Amino acid sequence: MFVKQATVSAPVNIACIKYWGKRNESLILPTNPSLSVTLSQDHLCSTTTSRTCAEYEENLLWLNGKEVKIDNDKRLNTCLQAMRKQRERYEAKYPNEPKISKWKVHICSENNFPTAAGLASSASGFAALAYSLAHLYDLPLSDPADISDLSLNARQGSGSACRSLFGGFVEWQMGRDDLLGSDSRAVQVADHTFWPEIHALICIVSDDKKGTSSTAGMQRTVETSALFQYRIQHVEEQLVDIKQAILKKDFDTFAKITMQDSNQFHAVALDTDPPIFYMNDVSRAIIGVVTEYNRVSIAAGGKRKAAYTFDAGPNAVIYAPGENMKEIIGMIIQYFPQPEPFKDPFLNEVIEGTLVPGFN
Ligand code: DP6
Repeated sequence: MFVKQATVSAPVNIACIKYWGKRNESLILPTNPSLSVTLSQDHLCSTTTSRTCAEYEENLLWLNGKEVKIDNDKRLNTCLQAMRKQRERYEAKYPNEPKISKWKVHICSENNFPTAAGLASSASGFAALAYSLAHLYDLPLSDPADISDLSLNARQGSGSACRSLFGGFVEWQMGRDDLLGSDSRAVQVADHTFWPEIHALICIVSDDKKGTSSTAGMQRTVETSALFQYRIQHVEEQLVDIKQAILKKDFDTFAKITMQDSNQFHAVALDTDPPIFYMNDVSRAIIGVVTEYNRVSIAAGGKRKAAYTFDAGPNAVIYAPGENMKEIIGMIIQYFPQPEPFKDPFLNEVIEGTLVPGFN
């Protein structure tokens, strides 16, 4: 029996300029470009094995041990079918290669962090899925343009997943092709070696499953928020400026824009009808701590020393130069005491992450 399999890992990414809103729901085309930092896969990643053989009778996925029928899941199926079509083209080009494009697949995906931790697992999950299928099907992966092409498939699983295919600082270009979405892809702004001094601290404020999913939340925002119209007209300017800040390694500007964008995203969520509250009192207290930390530094003639950002949930990610991290962790522990072994109901765990490459 001929069995082929491929295993890969993909890390989580955290956006500094948030993706929020789709102009095409089925192709997952965003209403604005976004930019993120890919975290180290030592701490937060999805590992996925894709396997195929002629005897398999149906397409199946085991997600953290739970069985999912791929054919009943629109996004999974779209992703798989797109990759199969590419394999068909490969088989047409290389007629001696095994004809595996017609075979069913079995996929097993696990996160190395608790799924219920309230951290975006769809980004790393769909990136790992697309990447493992690309290996399984021998699709080209050797240069950045290939990875960028692959991001078109990952994007159709979950928008933010397209950015997890690269390490370092990654932009998701919104593109102009509304018919096929052929240019709404991820590109690397700078790789993980470019600015290794920047670290990320993840503060798990709550491990509850979020009340409003990103998919449902952003759809409601597009339909009801007037502030959202302002955001989509101005967010691109912020993206241009933050890219410049990254390339100049200007942490002060990077921090300012990251925090502004997080605040604006949560303002837009609040402007949605009915309103969406992703942050809670502890999240806001973390904003207070970081703001005061920066204020003291600026008052002494210095610059911003840390930046907070929050996705569609209450957990904080704090970006800062590594040299400030000890101080920041000290403050967080001081203001949000954590009895061993992290039983505090509000702040359960603090994980320090360093920027290291994605899996490629
Ligand atoms: C707030 O990528 O999870 O994290 O495309 O519907 O799957 P879908 O949404 P998803 O949204 C992520 C939203 C965000 C911001 C971001 O990561 O850019």
